Parts: sequence; structure tokens; C-alpha cells
Amino acid sequence: MARAAVVGAGMTKFGVHEQPLQELFGEAAFAALDDAGVGSRDLDALYFGNAMSGQAENETHLGPRMASHIGAAGLEVQRFEDACATSANAFKNAVQAVDAGVHDVVLVGGVERCTPETGKDTPEMTRIFASASHRQYEQPTGLTFPGVFALLTKRHMHEYGTTEEQLAEVAVKNHAHGRLNPRAHFGKETTVEEVLEGPVVADPFRLMDCCPFSDGASAVVVVNPEYAESFDDTVGVTGLGHATDIVPVADKVEPTATQSARDAAAQAYEQAGIEADDADFAEVHDCFTGAEVLATEALGLFEDGEGGPAAAAGKTALSGETPVNPSGGLKAKGHPIGATGTAQIVELTEQLRGEAGDRQVEDPSVGLAHNLGGDTGTTLVTVMEETA
Ligand code: COA
Repeated sequence: MARAAVVGAGMTKFGVHEQPLQELFGEAAFAALDDAGVGSRDLDALYFGNAMSGQAENETHLGPRMASHIGAAGLEVQRFEDACATSANAFKNAVQAVDAGVHDVVLVGGVERCTPETGKDTPEMTRIFASASHRQYEQPTGLTFPGVFALLTKRHMHEYGTTEEQLAEVAVKNHAHGRLNPRAHFGKETTVEEVLEGPVVADPFRLMDCCPFSDGASAVVVVNPEYAESFDDTVGVTGLGHATDIVPVADKVEPTATQSARDAAAQAYEQAGIEADDADFAEVHDCFTGAEVLATEALGLFEDGEGGPAAAAGKTALSGETPVNPSGGLKAKGHPIGATGTAQIVELTEQLRGEAGDRQVEDPSVGLAHNLGGDTGTTLVTVMEETA
């Protein structure tokens, strides 16, 4: 059953940007509005995501500023913060508001600046990001997000025999995809050897196993199904799952299961009436190479323990049986926290419309987005389908 539909999508290039937040967000918002053929005065609401700018840039209460900048002062604005899952949650709430008849046309998007352009270097930004971890049990130990996902991945290696070479293949594949994406942070390919020779960040992750700090913004226009009929290029939202997981990481019963992803996927698949096998491609939250392996298993794309071998066998490449992260993923496209969730929706929209250029998946009908926040504390899974 098609519910709300996406009728416009836009994003900035992810990377290093000097512009202030409203200008960065405006670039993505105007691109989405232009794509939809909708004016900012036609909007009923802006559902907006930003996670870290309070700490990173001393900027809060961004909603009215974003609305003013796009010529929509007076508009209702809802602001979301869910760590790295921030704008996926904004998108879910926008779809639900449209489905419930509260609004007809909603602009959804997110923006974040995480590079030294903010005045914060890597150690300081790492500390700021770690505010999404457990204040009493994780932060005092010095555990950061590379460390959280390194722990989960080490456990996966112990349980299933996943290897550093298999993790490196994930980086090689996502950099190859990112090279085909003009809006990706990194436009260069890498090799297994280069990944394995890189400096260690948090064992088993080396530099090339990690996503970068990025600046960027993304936005989509969501409308109700009746209104969608007056648009040419619509993509239906057929499933939305949203679940949380045990935190801190040390309390997780089955750490490698990433239970929030399994629960969110089950909800989304049931709503959409699909099985994991029906997905033609997926955008997943590969903040680290090991996170992509865990995500592909939690989504049911591969059996537990098979995510690493599947990546090494090319099954998740653009030409493989289930392409994963055709955009380049967080690893190569980049990860401006509050913009990442809706950037995945932009990618699903472009792929399902057949507008993804050199990185186009062959004739897709069903796409998945998997966006997680914190130490897998929150996961949202979205199913989108080509509209006939
Ligand atoms: N992947 C590939 N290349 C990267 C990179 C990454 N993640 N991060 C930086 N680089 C490159 C830079 O472009 C630069 O290349 P150049 O010398 O050719 O210009 C070089 O590596 C050094 O960059 P620098 O910015 O000095 O790196 P850094 O040591 O300060 O930071 C990491 C590197 C991996 C530690 C940092 O990007 C990081 O912590 N990433 C994870 C972010 C995170 O935790 N996000 C939340 C996830 S839940």
C-alpha cells in the first residue's frame, strides 16, 4: 500500500563547506523544492534534523532560521535530534503526519557541519559525538564511536570469523561507488592493501575503515497520496520501522545482533508486505566497515556471519546481487550527522526514479534505507517503492 510519496529530492555535495548552516540547508532545500516544482509558500511544515550544532557551533533553535532562509517564515517547524539517525526520524514523522492528514506537503531535511570549518578539530569533534554515548558508563572510560563499533566488530570476528580483509572489501566497494557520485565527500578509489596498511584508529578499524567528518545538507518533499497524483515523478513510502536497543553497549545481550535494526526492519517489512529478499538495493549506515557487515545481516540480506564473505564475494557491489550503498555510503559519500538520514532517502528516490547516473542500480523496484544513531541505540528502516 503506497502511503505518502516523495516528489522532490536534493542535497549538497558532502565534504568541507564554509557556508553557515542556513545557507547549506537552503541549498539542499531549494534543490528539493525545485525538483518537486513546489514553492516554499506551498509548504505546510518543515521537519528538520540537526544533532550536534549546539555543541559544535553554539547554534540551537535552528528551525525558524531555516524557515526564514528559504522564504517560509511563519511555517510550523519540528526539530529532531537522534544522533546519527536524526533526519531519518524527521522523515518518519513527516510521513506519519501526512498519512494522518495533519499536513499535505512537508519539507524534510537535515544539516550538519562537522569538519574543522566549525573551529573544532578531530579530537574535539570526537568528544562532541561521544555525547551520544552513555554519560556514566561509557564516556568516563574514553569510549568513542570508532571504539563502540570496533567492540561490536571484534565480537563479530570472534563469533563468525569475519576478517580484516573482508572489512577492507567493504571500504574498497564503497569508495568505488562514491567515485561515481559527484556529491560524495571522497572521489577516490582505494585498494585492500591501502586499507590494511592505514593507521589504526580503533582496532580492527584503520583510517579507511572509518567514515569521515563531513559538512552537508539534504532534503526531500513529502506529500499525501492524493496530492502525489498531480506529480510526474513520485516514489512511494511503503514501510517505516523505528526501534531502540539496550544501552550502554556493555549491557547488550547479543551485541552483534544490533537488535534495534532487526526490530525496525521487521516493522518496515511487515508494513510494506515484503521480505528482505524483495529489496533490490539498500543504503545502510556504514559509519565503519564493520557496521555495514552487521547491518546487512540485521536487515536479513545475508545470514548471520555471511555479511563479510558476501562483501568479499562482490555480492554487495553495484553489479552484485544486492547492491549496498550505491551512493558510496557514509564511508565515501560522507557523514554530516543530521543530514545523513534524508540523504539516504534522496538516494532511494533517485535510484527508484532511474536518475542515479553512473551509479544506477539496474532497474530497481524496492529500496531500503537503514539509519542508526548512537551505539545502535536507535535504528530506523524505511522501505520505498517505485510508483507505477
Ligand atoms: N576515510 C578516508 N580518508 C580519510 C578519512 C576517512 N574516514 N578521514 C580523513 N581522511 C583523509 C583526509 O582526506 C586526509 O587526506 P589528505 O592527507 O590526502 O588530505 C587524511 O586522511 C588525513 O585527514 P585528517 O582530517 O587529518 O584525519 P584525522 O586523523 O583527523 O581523522 C579519522 C581521521 C578516521 C580519525 C576521523 O575521520 C574519524 O574519527 N572518523 C569517524 C567519525 C565518526 O566517528 N563519526 C560517527 C560515526 S557513528
